[in-house]
Amino acid sequence: MTGQSTPYFVHESAYVDEGAEIGEGTKIWHFAHVMSGAKIGERCILGQNVLVASDAVIGSNVKVQNNVAIYTGTVVEDDVFLGPSCVLTNVTNPRSQVVRHGLYEKTVLRRGATVGANATIVCGVEIGRYAFIAAGAVVTADVPDYALMMGVPARRKGWATRHGLPMPAPDAEGVMVCPESKLRYKEVEPGVIRCLDLDEEAPLPAELSVGRIRYDEFKSPQQKK
Ligand SMILES: CC(C)(COP(=O)(O)OP(=O)(O)OC[C@H]1O[C@@H](n2cnc3c(N)ncnc32)[C@H](O)[C@@H]1OP(=O)(O)O)[C@@H](O)C(=O)NCCC(=O)NCCS
Repeated sequence: MTGQSTPYFVHESAYVDEGAEIGEGTKIWHFAHVMSGAKIGERCILGQNVLVASDAVIGSNVKVQNNVAIYTGTVVEDDVFLGPSCVLTNVTNPRSQVVRHGLYEKTVLRRGATVGANATIVCGVEIGRYAFIAAGAVVTADVPDYALMMGVPARRKGWATRHGLPMPAPDAEGVMVCPESKLRYKEVEPGVIRCLDLDEEAPLPAELSVGRIRYDEFKSPQQKK
């Protein structure tokens, strides 16, 4: 399959095994390998040297940067971003001498989550919707929606908006307004963040889907490096 006769694109150096399902508009770049039984939605981008193993499930509009392996047992929902060289896993206690095929653990990345460059997700966890895993973090437990996780082991350092900015301090009514999108968020019960303006399962409207302001410009002069 070279992409020319399919509704998706596969670079000539990539392999897509018989029995893989790939949605319209998806692009699969250099040296990638999609194995039989893998399911990939529409409009995804798989960067260089990406592996999608048998039975891994990827939604639509998922961006996978270079050198990421998505193993059997992994479910990646729509709009997830996987940063370069981030690591997903599927066996907690691997041993070369002990065959554990069929015992793969499930890891779920919910809609809109971001995994930063070189972060590691230890298997068996669920990363909540729009959670933001910082570069180099090691995630060892479930992560709530919108959580901003950093460090080794990863700890919650705050909340991130759907535009990937730290949630500002809440106003008197507990409302946090994203400085970029102006979408409003609230901690509706301890540890549970909800967007007041958009359903968590709804895609961003087109006018909010293009970034126009650099991250640094949202920082105070003291925060700027
Ligand atoms: C999480 C992130 C958004 C924070 O960025 P930021 O707001 O500019 O952070 P700052 O540089 O202001 O740092 C704030 C604090 O967090 C710490 N910090 C920042 N990034 C960190 C990281 N990845 N891991 C651990 N600590 C981190 C800083 O050391 C600083 O700590 P201090 O207050 O004790 O000095 C950013 O570091 C990050 O990881 N982005 C992901 C980048 C990426 O992987 N992109 C992939 C596409 S190419």
